[in-house]
Amino acid sequence: MKKMAVIGAGTMGNGIAHVFAQHGWHVTLIDLQAAPLEKALATIKKNLERMQSKGALTAAQVEETLQHISINTSLTESVQQASLVVEAATENKEIKLALFTSLDAAAPADCILATNTSSIPIQTIAAATRRPEKVIGMHFMNPVPVMKLVEIITTAQTDRSVTDTIVSYSKDLQKVPCVVNDFPGFIANRILMPMINEAICSLQEGVAGVTEIDTIMKLGMAHPMGPLQLADLIGLDVCLSIMQVLHEGFKTDKYAPAHLLEQLIKENKLGVKTGEGFYQYTPGSKELLVSHRFRS
Ligand code: CAA
Repeated sequence: MKKMAVIGAGTMGNGIAHVFAQHGWHVTLIDLQAAPLEKALATIKKNLERMQSKGALTAAQVEETLQHISINTSLTESVQQASLVVEAATENKEIKLALFTSLDAAAPADCILATNTSSIPIQTIAAATRRPEKVIGMHFMNPVPVMKLVEIITTAQTDRSVTDTIVSYSKDLQKVPCVVNDFPGFIANRILMPMINEAICSLQEGVAGVTEIDTIMKLGMAHPMGPLQLADLIGLDVCLSIMQVLHEGFKTDKYAPAHLLEQLIKENKLGVKTGEGFYQYTPGSKELLVSHRFRS
């Protein structure tokens, strides 16, 4: 059985572990503490059971997938036999660079080191290792078990065989891989984030309310959710850090983050994960309630 490790038990990390395990890989999910790992396992179980209730998986497949996942707080121990590591830790450059230096020292020489970063240049991450040719971007979308895309980001140094392997693994996960070059925001976020930022600027300028902005984009452009609801799903802190990467990378005010986005983050309103962003979230409730901050 192929062995891989996922670093980071947050939303993206648990989704990535879920899909690899579901498609036959033995996965070790790694985080610093036991508590987030236990929480991630519970989330994976809940999402697998949801798929079972929709008839997409049998009870045996759910059980088998769960059996394929182990958890560990030791990075060194967990990656020793891995042929692939996907890093999905906090979106912080210093943390990722330190992780890749440790991974390079601990993982087998032929192990591919992939990062799920949404915006940090792959070249910068690759330079923290002695194997830049084996470092690649493997950018999954949230919610990972549902979204079909894997944006694969290569640098000038990425070995062609590494890209081919990651394309092939992505297809094995029943995802659709798209290979792009290493530019700020890659493609997905270079296009998505300015749209979200513009929606926030429109709200901030009083052009329309939260419901109106999201309804216009849902019904007018057939987006599955409006940009403000999507920002809440992604996390407003993540949206800001991606806008900052675009702003600094392209050096144009076209990408200046909306003041309202920065203000909400100061108030710790980060979206779904803190219970409030543009909307308010009650655990277990599917009702979409505009945050009282934006009610007239
Ligand atoms: N695990 C497994 N299945 C899940 C799931 C999860 N976490 N979340 C939802 N589902 C399944 C549901 O069971 C349901 O399955 P069926 O179609 O078989 O019934 C299906 O997905 C749709 O779910 P819901 O009916 O609950 O809700 P919905 O129809 O409103 O869809 C959504 C939810 C899939 C999230 C949809 O609203 C959507 O596609 N939104 C846009 C998501 C998006 O744009 N993601 C990209 C964000 S950008 C990013 O991730 C990259 C970055 O770097 C920032």
